[in-house]
Amino acid sequence: MTGAAGAQGATPRRYRTVFLGPPGAGKGTQAKSLAAADGALHISTGDMLREHVAKGTELGARAREYMEGGHLVPDALIIAMVEERLSRPDAQSSWILDGFPRTLPQAEALARSLAAHAQPLTHVLYFNVGRGVLLQRLTGRWSCGSCGAIYNVQFRPPAVAGVCDVCAGALRQRDDDRPEAVGVRLEEYERLTGPLLGYYQGLGLLREVDAEADPDVVEDQVREVLSSASN
Ligand code: AP5
Repeated sequence: MTGAAGAQGATPRRYRTVFLGPPGAGKGTQAKSLAAADGALHISTGDMLREHVAKGTELGARAREYMEGGHLVPDALIIAMVEERLSRPDAQSSWILDGFPRTLPQAEALARSLAAHAQPLTHVLYFNVGRGVLLQRLTGRWSCGSCGAIYNVQFRPPAVAGVCDVCAGALRQRDDDRPEAVGVRLEEYERLTGPLLGYYQGLGLLREVDAEADPDVVEDQVREVLSSASN
């Protein structure tokens, strides 16, 4: 999770936003960069769960099997984890939810929770990428085990193979980027997360980003949306 303050390329308005899109669409890449530049909070449910697994917590033990197989973790576990995170003092300014919500019950729980605190979502960004590109991105992804920076052997290689440009940590591949798990993740995305596009469209919050473009071009699109007034 990122939360460092920074001034570079600041997006003027405060935002409470959801990054929605299939596995490998670039949500984490953009969220990390934006959060670091804006001093916004980056809440990645995938990163939080991986941290629980690494620390061997009870939640990590329950989530691990689902994650390794490419399945979504049960709603009740995720909703409780996110509600607790959003209740902390550092979540009272701009934040990005990356990878949550992913089911209609999660979206409805989030709406109820935010309404109770009079802090509605300002934007929902849909990262649109075709399946062929997603497969290339996921199989080529490497992440830093220390700072979480994301690379791609084909599209965004580090300066030195296997070494993080930011902190010199060792790069590694995620267990759920194996081809079998990737197939399950894409299928569950279509079936369980796909309906959220209509849900947020109906609320007038959904804005689409062409996430097949180069990372800098995607970032410009994201900034343009977030600097606009919400509906
Ligand atoms: P999570 O970690 O959220 O995985 P995901 O949603 O599948 O998303 P990814 O992290 O795979 O992709 P991304 O869109 O962030 O892409 P990235 O920026 O890395 O979740 C993991 C698991 O946790 C789930 O499967 C589930 O089990 C569980 N979980 C999490 N949240 C849950 C929830 N709400 N409910 C239930 N279970 C939950 O980029 C991908 C690659 O592409 C990188 O190599 C990157 O360098 C490259 N790239 C990025 N942008 C570009 C670009 N513009 N051009 C070229 N390459 C690019």
